[in-house]
Amino acid sequence: MEHKLALIPGDGIGPEIVREARKVLDRVCEKYGHTFTYTELLLGGASIDANGVPLTEETVALAKESEAVLMGSIGGDAATSPWYKLEPSKRPEAGLLGIRKALNLFANLRPAYLYKELKAACPLRDEIIGDGFDMMIMRELTGGLYFGERKTIEENGVKKAIDTLTYDENEIRRIAKRGFDIAMKRRKKVTSVDKANVLDSSRLWRKVVEEVAQEYPEVTLEHMLVDNCAMQLVKDPKQFDVILTENMFGDILSDEASMVTGSIGMLSSASLNETKFGLYEPSHGSAPDIAGQDKANPIATILSAAMMLRYSLDMDQEADAVEAAVSAVLEKGYRTGDIMSEGCTLVGTAQMGDLIAAEI
Ligand code: IPM
Ligand code: MG
Repeated sequence: MEHKLALIPGDGIGPEIVREARKVLDRVCEKYGHTFTYTELLLGGASIDANGVPLTEETVALAKESEAVLMGSIGGDAATSPWYKLEPSKRPEAGLLGIRKALNLFANLRPAYLYKELKAACPLRDEIIGDGFDMMIMRELTGGLYFGERKTIEENGVKKAIDTLTYDENEIRRIAKRGFDIAMKRRKKVTSVDKANVLDSSRLWRKVVEEVAQEYPEVTLEHMLVDNCAMQLVKDPKQFDVILTENMFGDILSDEASMVTGSIGMLSSASLNETKFGLYEPSHGSAPDIAGQDKANPIATILSAAMMLRYSLDMDQEADAVEAAVSAVLEKGYRTGDIMSEGCTLVGTAQMGDLIAAEI
C-alpha cells in the first residue's frame, strides 16, 4: 500500500537530519514492502526566503493531504539572521505555531528516555539515575499563552506588554484524555502539572483533569506545581511516567527533561490532532552554528520518524525495528559529537544515518 507523507526539511540542520530520517524510512520500505511517497513543504525561514511569509496556505493544504508530516527544524540565529528583522508574526517560529494551530495539533508527546549506553552523558549522579528513567511529557500545544491575545501598548508614556493565558474546559479535557490514554499503555501514572496556587487557568485545569481521571480508575493521578516539578525532574526523574501539562510549562519542562537524558539530540516528538494525522519533529532546534557541517545528530529525527510509523501509520513492528536499530548502533559505540564519550567512535550525520539504516 502506498502512503503519502510530507517532509519539511526547514532551516539550519533541518535538511540534513531529515535526509537521514528519509534514508531510514526508505530502508523500512525495502524491508517491509511499503511504498512511501514524499512531498516537500516549505516552512519557517525557508518559506520566508521563497514566499516572504513563514507559512503559506499551500503548505497547510499539502500537509492536510498527507497522512503525516515529518519535520526537521525551523529558525535561525536571532542575532544575525535577517528573518529576525521582520515583525514577530512574520518570523520563522510564527510559521511553526501557525501550522500547529491550522492542523489542530493539540497533543504534543515528548518522550524523555535515558539510553543505558548514554548514561555517561547524563549530568545526574549515578544514585539518582539508578536503572534509568522513561517519561512522556504530554504538552498541550494549541492553547494557553502561546495563542492568547497579545499586544504592546503605551499608557501615559509607559510601554506595556500584555499576553493572555486562556484555557477552556474542552481544550483541557481533550489533552487530559490523551494523557490518560497514553498512561494506560505505560506505567499507569499521570502527574498533572500546573500552578493552581496562583492561576485560575490552572485551577480549572486541575478540576477538569480530576473529572477525566474518573474515567480511568486504573491510572494513578497526582498533581504537582510546576516549580516543584522543575525541581523533581533533577532530584528524582524516575518518579515520572506521564507528565500532563499546558503549553508554556510543557515547553520549559520538556527542555529540562531532555537535558537530563544527556542530549537534546536524542529526543523525538509527535504533535497529534483528533485523527491519526500527526506532525513529527525532533524536540531540538535548528542549530544554525553547525548547519551543513555533517555534525548534527540525526537520531531525534529518526526516532520521530519511528513515532510517525507507530502513531500515524499503525506500523508498530517497523517502529520497533527503527528504535532497535538506534539502540544497536549506540551499543556498538558510534556517536555524533553531542553524545560523544571516551572510547566511542565519532561519526558524522550521514554516517550515523547509514549505520542505523543498515541495522534494519
Ligand atoms: C518547541 C520550540 C517552539 C515552542 C518554538 C520554536 C516556538 O521551543 O517546539 O519547544 O516554543 O513551542
Ligand atoms: Mg521548546
